[in-house]
Amino acid sequence: MNEPHPLIKNRWSPRAMSGEILSEKEFMPLFEAASLAPSSSNSQPWRFLITKAKTERFEQFLSLLFEGNRIWAKNASLLVLVISRLHFEKNDKFSKTHSFDTGAAWENLALQGCFQNLVIHGMAGFDYVKAKEIFSIPDIYQIEMAIAIGKPGDKNSLPEELKKVEYPKERKPLEELICFDSFAFE
Ligand SMILES: Cc1cc2nc3c(=O)[nH]c(=O)nc-3n(C[C@H](O)[C@H](O)[C@H](O)COP(=O)(O)O)c2cc1C
Repeated sequence: MNEPHPLIKNRWSPRAMSGEILSEKEFMPLFEAASLAPSSSNSQPWRFLITKAKTERFEQFLSLLFEGNRIWAKNASLLVLVISRLHFEKNDKFSKTHSFDTGAAWENLALQGCFQNLVIHGMAGFDYVKAKEIFSIPDIYQIEMAIAIGKPGDKNSLPEELKKVEYPKERKPLEELICFDSFAFE
């Protein structure tokens, strides 16, 4: 049987980042990879609002994160707000898959980051309501998640409790995830 590609197998979500600044040359391919994701009717509902470290916007973004995320995400080079457009641009009809499609784009970004040996860490632990306000996100868009992006750093720079969980996480066995012919999940 074929194995999943090593890029897929090796991707994980570290928290230790060095604080180094990424150049556009380094980070733009992440968004290019995201833009290559498939989507319903090729609607490409994903949007990425990027803030760069050492700017007021980045600090504002950081302040929206829950403490447990802020403590390590402060060493990111970029904090990114992932947003999706709720309606198709071509006819303004609601797209059932706007979040799903945007999830595919996020994973492309994460895999490209793994390929470039960058830390790519998704976060839902932040104040979505304030983020909508601070970044003036119109109602036709939905905030999906945030991403901390940076260069890998020393695991020992993390607080004790995070040091303990700085490793790739286990997955459910396939038997729990797939079934044939009839629905067979708990
Ligand atoms: C949508 C989403 C939200 C997440 N939110 C957080 C978060 O707020 N804080 C955090 O430390 N990790 C967060 N994570 C990372 C997950 O905990 C992580 O992906 C999961 O444990 C699997 O580990 P792996 O990515 O290392 O394989 C999030 C991941 C995703 C995809």
